[in-house]
Amino acid sequence: MLGRTYRGIVLGILLLFIFAFPAFAGHLPVQLMTEDAKKINPLTGQNADQPYSPQNSCGTCHNYHAITEGAHFQQDRNVRDDDYSEKKSDTMQK
Ligand code: HEC
Repeated sequence: MLGRTYRGIVLGILLLFIFAFPAFAGHLPVQLMTEDAKKINPLTGQNADQPYSPQNSCGTCHNYHAITEGAHFQQDRNVRDDDYSEKKSDTMQK
């Protein structure tokens, strides 16, 4: 009886760690890259003064074009109605 309870507790703790681990781990390490595909390493100073390219750094795994063409990313500029009033303020437009 005690054996089954003990196994249940151990299994419960094990499952908790397995399923909770990604929440603790955050994102996996990413190699930052410049626009012309050079590695950036802030720890060694390698190209540390260069801006990183999300397309080259993140686009190897994430669909860069799907993300940047999304309505939220574009703030609806790509899905706006033809009769959109130019009187409405749009600081991102010009
Ligand atoms: C080596 C592949 C890889 C690269 C490169 C990469 N990602 Fe991810 N990213 C993943 C995976 C896999 C997941 C899903 C992780 C999960 O669901 O636990 C993810 C998830 C995410 C999420 C969702 C939240 C999270 O942390 O789970 C965000 C936001 C994100 N990535 C942003 C970025 C950005 C910004 C970059 C570039 C700086 C980047 N990723 C580069 C593989 C990558």
